[in-house]
Amino acid sequence: TLARAFLLSSVAALTASTAFASDLRDTALEVFAPLPSTVPAVNDNPITPAKIDLGKALFFDPRMSASGVFSCNSCHNLATGGDDNLETSIGHGWQKGPRNAPTVLNSVFNEAQFWDGRAADLAEQAKGPVQAGVEMANTPDNVVATLNSMPQYVEWFHASFPDQADPVSFDNFAKAIEAYEATLTTPAPFDSFLNGDEDALSADQKAGLELFMDKGCAACHNGVNVGGHDYYPFGLIEKPGAEVLPVGDRGRFAVTETADDDYVFRAAPLRNTAITAPYFHSGKVWDLKVAVQIMGESQLGEDLSDSEADQIVAFLGSLTGTIPPVVYPVLPAETAATPRPTG
Ligand code: HEM
Ligand code: HEM
Repeated sequence: TLARAFLLSSVAALTASTAFASDLRDTALEVFAPLPSTVPAVNDNPITPAKIDLGKALFFDPRMSASGVFSCNSCHNLATGGDDNLETSIGHGWQKGPRNAPTVLNSVFNEAQFWDGRAADLAEQAKGPVQAGVEMANTPDNVVATLNSMPQYVEWFHASFPDQADPVSFDNFAKAIEAYEATLTTPAPFDSFLNGDEDALSADQKAGLELFMDKGCAACHNGVNVGGHDYYPFGLIEKPGAEVLPVGDRGRFAVTETADDDYVFRAAPLRNTAITAPYFHSGKVWDLKVAVQIMGESQLGEDLSDSEADQIVAFLGSLTGTIPPVVYPVLPAETAATPRPTG
């Protein structure tokens, strides 16, 4: 009968859609991975509660900069997505740096750090901004002198590196910050989906996920951070104009000096991308949908339709995670021996 045929076809449709849902998850699991549920281990740097607390104090301490004005949190503000929401960062002496600040959230999962991957890990990375003239403009010696001038810091370094006789060093400063950063991970609805909760994504987000994989975005943005571990020319198919890709910043070319690396950048990690505008290393694009359309054209030679771009943006929204609660640390008081701010 008609009723029976109808029933059968709706059952078939239902099974098809269930099959589709778990297919989508299975396919996604071949390309992406959920965040681990515990703090990830990092190379050569055992993570302990004491070290995390020390790293957190250092992350928030503006006295690690020459001027006493800039902390890591100035540009990687944990209240605003772990970045500064500026086109390019403002640092020492109100100087504007050359690149957009990426978020520190989940940065522990990036294969290499910076837009051009020039730092191998977070401990190496943390030594950069402190010394960069346009960021914190300090010297390792002055950082160590500053730390040694405050007995509370000295105590915390001993607690964090218990088997070292003289633990207050620039290396350990960086390791403590790395330990803290390893705790800054943000589980998102996409993780719940990968872990089996089919309802964690809306229909639009699922459609966007499917497009993200089918169109080829996931060829470059994959793994646990949906990016962050390999390098590609920005403009693989079609080079964006200088208003998005300024000619002066040639990306990895500056690191490797090989022609193949001209305008090559790390495929940006896309967790929390909805809350970390503006986009690209130039920070020139404020609208995520526009950034998605630019990617379609520049990396895939594909004009995404309005609704395709909307669905991909919806999917990217499922990567916005829960930021761990941050209790603002009370920092050790400076003493007569603490170097005075300069510049
Ligand atoms: C990049 C952490 C201070 C601006 C990064 C990255 C990390 C980080 C982990 C790489 C993220 C990624 O590649 O996805 C820190 C720490 C700091 C600090 C631990 C304190 C010791 C600052 C300050 C500023 C700043 C004070 C602004 C004045 C930037 C910029 C980049 C960056 C512009 C991208 C640079 C590039 O790719 O060439 N930071 N940061 N950072 N940070 Fe910081
Ligand atoms: C950057 C999305 C395809 C490589 C970005 C950003 C977004 C994005 C939103 C900016 C992230 C930020 O500024 O924090 C997409 C989407 C794609 C796609 C939706 C598919 C339509 C690709 C492909 C490749 C690629 C296929 C590699 C061939 C890169 C690179 C960057 C980037 C290298 C950094 C660009 C820069 O230097 O600023 N992507 N992407 N993307 N993506 Fe894609």
